[in-house]
Amino acid sequence: MRALICDDFGGVESLRVGDLPDPEVKPGTVLVRVASAVANFADTLMVSGRYQLKPEPPFAPGYELAGVVVEAGEGTGFSPGDRVCGFTPYGAMAELALLPAESCDLLPGVVGFDEAATLPGTYGTSYHALVDRADLQADETLLVLGAAGGVGLAAVQIGKALGAKVVAAVSSDAKEELARTSGADEVIRYDREELRAGIDRVTGGHGVDVVFDPVGGEATEAALRSTRWNGRLLVIGFAAGDIPSIPLNLPLLKGNAVLGVFWGRFTNEEPMKAMDNRTRILEMAANKMIVPQVGHRFTLDEGAVALRMVAEREAVGRVVVKP
Ligand SMILES: NC(=O)c1ccc[n+]([C@@H]2O[C@H](COP(=O)([O-])OP(=O)(O)OC[C@H]3O[C@@H](n4cnc5c(N)ncnc54)[C@H](OP(=O)(O)O)[C@@H]3O)[C@@H](O)[C@H]2O)c1
Repeated sequence: MRALICDDFGGVESLRVGDLPDPEVKPGTVLVRVASAVANFADTLMVSGRYQLKPEPPFAPGYELAGVVVEAGEGTGFSPGDRVCGFTPYGAMAELALLPAESCDLLPGVVGFDEAATLPGTYGTSYHALVDRADLQADETLLVLGAAGGVGLAAVQIGKALGAKVVAAVSSDAKEELARTSGADEVIRYDREELRAGIDRVTGGHGVDVVFDPVGGEATEAALRSTRWNGRLLVIGFAAGDIPSIPLNLPLLKGNAVLGVFWGRFTNEEPMKAMDNRTRILEMAANKMIVPQVGHRFTLDEGAVALRMVAEREAVGRVVVKP
């Protein structure tokens, strides 16, 4: 099968398109012809050797996808021709991907492949963060950093679906528009305004209840300083590059909780709960309570361009690769 191939952890620039052996179907696994694979920030880290998981090269990057079942192993409950979305640690940017059946879900007819590809991991992460970790309530205010990025925009939409007031922090006109059309109540342009001043402005000085932080760097402490009593900081990732250090007097003074979020490990440690979450996410997508925004589509040959766009902060909406 054709695939985008990482040979040497040389980063996005050293990826090539070539042939890898077709995966072999075993009991409990499902072979999927990939229609769409998402280009995620974590994939850019993985092909550079900077991610928690370092697969043995050569391998194809990509951890969430949608497509059609071509062969279903014994005991999976799937059949050839089923439209599915699913996740795998890597291997999605290829013509074929092998998934454990428990990482695979049937797609509601109304959800297209490009949108569906982003549901398992991207929406899965934001749902797990806001519901399981932060227990976000309908009368609370949610601040989302990197709000037009993958997990950020999913958090904006899920936060709205849960009834919260959503404040989106973004860095450009195009990202502001995407956050607003996805339901953000307020927008802070942190390229133009200091983050804390923006939070004061949109909350009348009261601060926010929950911070969803996939960005890291200086933004983390500024956001934490702008939380209310009982505020929660969701540690999602560090797209800005720097892993921040937090003075622990800050959470002490406001009864704050700092909550780590690791969706991949959550799916291993609590598989039944993760499956329930995916069922709820698919229902929300079928009912248009959440609407994944795909901004850029690339062929497999352009896979490295897709990942570079994500690494360089240029993506507005999700980026998908279509093998
Ligand atoms: N913990 C988990 O389980 C989990 C799951 C999925 C993803 N993640 C992590 O969450 C982070 C975001 O992932 P994603 O897929 O949503 O990425 P993404 O689509 O690229 O979005 C990241 C956002 O971060 C902002 N950003 C700020 N500084 C940046 C920089 N120097 N380079 C790139 N972006 C920058 C950008 O928004 P502005 O330009 O508006 O600032 C961008 O839209 C990554 O670190 C990823 O590894 C964690």
